[in-house]
Amino acid sequence: MTAGEAGILARLQPCRKLVEAELSRVLPRATRAPVRLHRAMRYAALGPGKRLRPMLTVLVARMFGVAPRRSAPYAVAFELLHTYSLIHDDLPCMDDDDYRRGRLTCHKKFGEATAVLAGDALLTLAFGTLTDRAIEANLPARRTVQLVSELARAAGSQGLIFGQIDDLEAEGKRVSLKRLASIHDRKTGRLFTVALRAGAILGGADRRELEVITRYGDLFGQVFQITDDILDVTGSFEEIGKPVGSDRKNEKATYVSLLSVDRARAIARALCRRAVRTIRRLRGRPVEPLVDLVEYLPGRIS
Ligand code: IPE
Ligand code: IPE
Ligand code: MG
Ligand code: MG
Ligand code: MG
Repeated sequence: MTAGEAGILARLQPCRKLVEAELSRVLPRATRAPVRLHRAMRYAALGPGKRLRPMLTVLVARMFGVAPRRSAPYAVAFELLHTYSLIHDDLPCMDDDDYRRGRLTCHKKFGEATAVLAGDALLTLAFGTLTDRAIEANLPARRTVQLVSELARAAGSQGLIFGQIDDLEAEGKRVSLKRLASIHDRKTGRLFTVALRAGAILGGADRRELEVITRYGDLFGQVFQITDDILDVTGSFEEIGKPVGSDRKNEKATYVSLLSVDRARAIARALCRRAVRTIRRLRGRPVEPLVDLVEYLPGRIS
């Protein structure tokens, strides 16, 4: 970890703590039936993840004047949905990985059936969390419906699930860079973008501002996934908390397999610079945390 990287993560510590407290609150208690399912949900969701998606929601909302304690209850929906996608991604029928966040994957710990169902329950809970909070906070109906509809689209068969199935179909093939970018955009980028847009919607951003946030989110997703692909080759288990070399084992199409680590790194840096220029277009808004966060990504591979 570089000094700069440590600085950003340290500065975001209060935000992470807030998100984690809220996450623990919305997850069903492990003592409540069905106990095994609830234990699996909490195990997967409360493991030591980076919490990037909910932190992005909170940071954008704050940029638009919404206090973190008000946005955090919505923000955790994106972490719940993300956790479901990780549990299913690790299953033997998908990437077949045994470790996640430095510990056994959900299916290794609880068995496949429980893991599949814990994923399903987290997906449902994500939507329940958004709507419960909106009702509780008297959020205008239009904003509530927009949040739910955007999350459904980002996670559905045109978004994350499209990306996941195309990622599997591209295994062992030399796909075009255009198709690879589409896989990254869908399996990873859409959820980042909707998490960011949610913060802006909660803060009443206008159309132009939402467009800037969306563009930044798309770039953030690309940089994030290229970095993830590079770390699969150059990282260590201690650093990434998951097995190194999983992509090679599965013959995944990645920027590293199609180009090289150096070319992939250069592309990630160039996309990162574009993301910074994009978010700076929101003149008059305190965008520095979003600049720092996207710069943290290539910082992980330099
Ligand atoms: C991993 O995401 C899944 C991908 C989209 C590559 P993260 O690297 O954000 O995982 P956690 O939440 O920190 O464990
Ligand atoms: C996973 O991408 C994306 C989703 C879970 C939607 P990866 O398969 O590259 O993620 P890791 O490397 O297992 O975290
Ligand atoms: Mg995968
Ligand atoms: Mg995987
Ligand atoms: Mg990966």
